[in-house]
Amino acid sequence: MDETTVQVLWGGRLVEKPETQAFAFQASIAVDNRLAQDDIQGSRVHAAMLEKQGVIPPDTAAALDKELLAIAEELENGSLHIDLSAEDIHSFIEGELTKRLGDAGRMVHAGRSRNDQVAVDFRLYLKRTIPVLCGEIQEAVAVILDKAAYYAEAVMPGYTHLQRAQPVTLGYHLVAWACGLKRDRARFLDALDRLDECPLGAGALAGSGLPLDRVVTAKNLGFKRPTLNAMDSVADRDFVLELASAVAITQTHLSRFCEDIVIWSSEEFKFIELSEMWSTGSSIMPQKKNPDFAELIRGKAGRTTGNLVTLLTVVKGLPYAYNKDLQEDKEALFDSLDTAALCLRIFRGMLGAAAFNTERMADACNGGFLEATDAADYLVRKRLPFRKAHEAAALVVRDCIEAGQRSIAERTLEQLKERSPLFDADVYDVLTPFACVRARRTHGGTSPDEVRRQIAELSETID
Ligand code: ARG
Repeated sequence: MDETTVQVLWGGRLVEKPETQAFAFQASIAVDNRLAQDDIQGSRVHAAMLEKQGVIPPDTAAALDKELLAIAEELENGSLHIDLSAEDIHSFIEGELTKRLGDAGRMVHAGRSRNDQVAVDFRLYLKRTIPVLCGEIQEAVAVILDKAAYYAEAVMPGYTHLQRAQPVTLGYHLVAWACGLKRDRARFLDALDRLDECPLGAGALAGSGLPLDRVVTAKNLGFKRPTLNAMDSVADRDFVLELASAVAITQTHLSRFCEDIVIWSSEEFKFIELSEMWSTGSSIMPQKKNPDFAELIRGKAGRTTGNLVTLLTVVKGLPYAYNKDLQEDKEALFDSLDTAALCLRIFRGMLGAAAFNTERMADACNGGFLEATDAADYLVRKRLPFRKAHEAAALVVRDCIEAGQRSIAERTLEQLKERSPLFDADVYDVLTPFACVRARRTHGGTSPDEVRRQIAELSETID
C-alpha cells in the first residue's frame, strides 16, 4: 500500500498522512469485509430515513439507493472487489459511493458514526448467520437421534468416574448428548432475541441533533426496536460475549462427546468403529487408525474458550463509550462462529458414518457387578429398607469377588439367602443387563421405550 493513496474518512483533522505500518495496524478490513452486505443494507435504510426526515434531498436519496444496490450486486457477482487497502468496510463502501456519486456519496453519513454503524452491521450479520448455525446444531442432533433410535436397545455400561456403574443403552447415552445441543441452540436463539435492537442513529455516543427517526430505521432493518440509550448502543458488546459464550459451551459439549468417541475407539474399549473416511493413519506405525477428527474437535474447544476469554478481557477495562479496542470483537467472534459451524459439520459426518460394536458393549456389562443396584432394588421391593438392601447386595458382591465369580447371578439361591432371606428364585430375572435397563422406566430413564419417548420429544421440540 502506498501511503499517499490511502483514503480515510478523517483526513480533514490530521494534516500528516498515516504511517504505512501504523495505518495497516489499525485497519480492520481484512476482518470486517464480510460485513459488506450488512453495511450496504444499513446505509440504504439510513439514507431513506434521512430523505423522509428532510435531511437529504429525494434525488440524492434515490441516487444513493441505486448505487448502493449496484455495489451490492457487483460485490455479489464478483465484478467489484473489496479494496483491502481501505481502512474498514465502512470506509470502502462510502469511498465507493463518493467515487461514483461525488457529493451525494458524501451525504450518507449524516447523523451516524462508524461507532453505531459497526454495531448495526455486526448485529445484522449475526441475525442472518446465527440461524444458519442453529440449523447446523439441528442437523447434528438429527444424526445423533437417528443413531439413538437405531441403538435404543443396545446395552452398554454407563459410567461414573469412568468406572462401570449401571447398564444403559447406547441410544440413551446418545440422547444425553443431544440434550446438551438442544440447550445450546436455545442459548443462541435467546442471545439473538436480546440483540434484536437497532443501534443505528446512536451516532458517536450521544444521539444526533439532526431529526433522525430511529424507530423507522429499526423497523426497516428488521429489528424489533431501536436501542434505548445511545451511549450503551456504541459501548455495548454483551451480544458478542453471549454468543462467544454460547459457542464455547457448544464446543465444550462437542469436546466431551468426542472424548467419549476417542475412548470408545481405543483397543481397550472397541465400542465404536470409525469409518476409514473419518480416521487417519500414522506416518510411522502401519497398523494405526487414529480418531484425529474427534481429537481436533476436542482441541478446537480450547480455541473457542480462548476467544471467549479474549473478548471478556478486551471489554472489561473499557471506559464508556466506544474505544478502538472494541474492533477486536469481530475477529474473535467470527472465528468462534466459523469454528463451531465447522466442528458441528465434521462431528455429524463422523458420527453418521461410524458403526458401533454392540456385542463388545453388551459384553462389557458383564463382570463389573453393574446389576448390584438392581439386586438391592429387588430387596427394596420386598420392603427391606434401602440402606439394608444396599448392604446385603454389597456383601453378595464381596462374596462373588472372594469366590472368583463375575456376576451376582453366579451365586446359588442358598448363597444369596445367606445375605438376605428375601432373595427368591425370581431375583435372577432382574439381574441381566437388559433386565436392568428395561426396569428403568422412570421419566428420563434408560428403558428402550422411555428412550424412544425422549427421542420423540427432542425431535419435536428442536424443530
Ligand atoms: N473498525 C471499527 C470497529 O470495528 C469501526 C468503528 C471505528 N470507530 C472509530 N471511532 N474509529 O470497531
